[in-house]
Amino acid sequence: MAQWVRLCGMAEAPTEGNVMEVEAQGRSLCLARIGGELSALDNWCPHRQGPLGQGWVEGNTVVCPWHAWSFDARSGRSVFPDNEQVAVFPLKREGDALLIELDTPAGIEDGSTREQK
Ligand code: FES
Repeated sequence: MAQWVRLCGMAEAPTEGNVMEVEAQGRSLCLARIGGELSALDNWCPHRQGPLGQGWVEGNTVVCPWHAWSFDARSGRSVFPDNEQVAVFPLKREGDALLIELDTPAGIEDGSTREQK
């Protein structure tokens, strides 16, 4: 059964086109807002563990600040280079809080990992 935990307050979430680092249950995450929607990705880049939450947004991607690998914020798939992946986690809003479900990083195919409204 899915277990939702508080990630941050909605007021603390990044503004449009921005990313931030945030922690939930000891796990470091990259929270991004693109096209008005929030996405939570694993914070550690698969290249050399750069902190994606210290990177930036380009189009629909989060760009790693260390060597500029980029990942689609919805699917976690890399745009540059090919065939890399970071986990993306389901989000939902509950009142003024943003909740995350850390047990099931997935949603790669159906795009269901973005914030549920
Ligand atoms: S550590 Fe992210 S691109 Fe190198």
